[in-house]
Amino acid sequence: TADRVVLGIESSCDETGVGLVRLATDGTVELLADAVASSVDEHARYGGVVPEIASRAHLAAMAPTMRRALDESGLELSDVDAIAVTAGPGLAGALMVGVAAAKAYASALGVPLYGVNHLGGHVAVDTLEHGPLPDRCLAMLVSGGHSQLLLVEGIAEKITEVGTTIDDAAGEAYDKVARILDLPYPGGPPIDKQAKLGNPKAIAFPRGLTGPRDAKYDFSFSGLKTAVARWVETEQREGREIPVPDVCASFQEAVADVLTAKAVRAARDLDVDTLVISGGVAANSRLSELAAQRCAEAGIALRVPRPRLCTDNGAMIAALGAHVLASGAKPSPLDMPANPGLPV
Ligand code: KG4
Ligand code: ZN
Repeated sequence: TADRVVLGIESSCDETGVGLVRLATDGTVELLADAVASSVDEHARYGGVVPEIASRAHLAAMAPTMRRALDESGLELSDVDAIAVTAGPGLAGALMVGVAAAKAYASALGVPLYGVNHLGGHVAVDTLEHGPLPDRCLAMLVSGGHSQLLLVEGIAEKITEVGTTIDDAAGEAYDKVARILDLPYPGGPPIDKQAKLGNPKAIAFPRGLTGPRDAKYDFSFSGLKTAVARWVETEQREGREIPVPDVCASFQEAVADVLTAKAVRAARDLDVDTLVISGGVAANSRLSELAAQRCAEAGIALRVPRPRLCTDNGAMIAALGAHVLASGAKPSPLDMPANPGLPV
């Protein structure tokens, strides 16, 4: 058998992504194209993703994004051997646009369709950057929609959730704190920038769920966000100016501390020696710094895909699709539904 080209379609949130990868006969997967259109600017004035706006934007962007991915790869649609699409989890209407497009392309081309899990895609994307994953590894997904620790025992075979947020996602906390501080949406990049100018020890913000009786690998960020809001309110009431860099640095330190401590603890307890960090928050400068330091101390190999691959994109879905195809799994039926609550 020869190399196969897999096309991936992503539309679970506010990014329309179309990616192309090549699956070699030895099972390695290579990135060919990664085209993304984002509706993030249309959501900015609402401070979060508006589902209806996202669905309409996917519909408008799908065909042009497909064209861009093909142009970038120098391939034609007729070169595509299989199509993978995000089946869930995500926003129902947004997912449906990608799933409908994938079905249309798959049936027109007469190639198999694979509905895959968005969370698995965030992990699979790392194989495009750092090669095959070990048989067992831990993945930490931190984005606007998810904050999870996943035990990965074969990317196409078995992914088990070992921890999750009990309230807000890490990126959501960034976005909410940015709003409190009058910084733009999405909040991650401006807070990261301000934090570099501030003192991470200036304010002692709480570390959620780190008590001895708390669920070991679960996260909570809503208390942290409330603590920031209370602190800012108090300062304003007393007529003091808000030291934005110090608030950002102290908040960012609390997030990075909890995330890395729990990830390293889980890796040790589960006896895995590789940690993959992915999702939009993986781009955070303090998180990657602290993760590198703590993983080195614990003898854990740290893998973080480049920021562009960490955020939602079609290449991650193509990559997971390629691994599923290589595993010999059965394709999805053409009446496959989108599943907003799809578990890992
Ligand atoms: O993966 P992503 O693009 O979309 C999903 O939510 O699936 O993640 C977006 C999230 C936003 O909440 C944004 O504020 C956060 O990632 N983010 C960051 C940084 N860059 C983006 N958070 C912290 N530091 C950053 N540098
Ligand atoms: Zn995502």
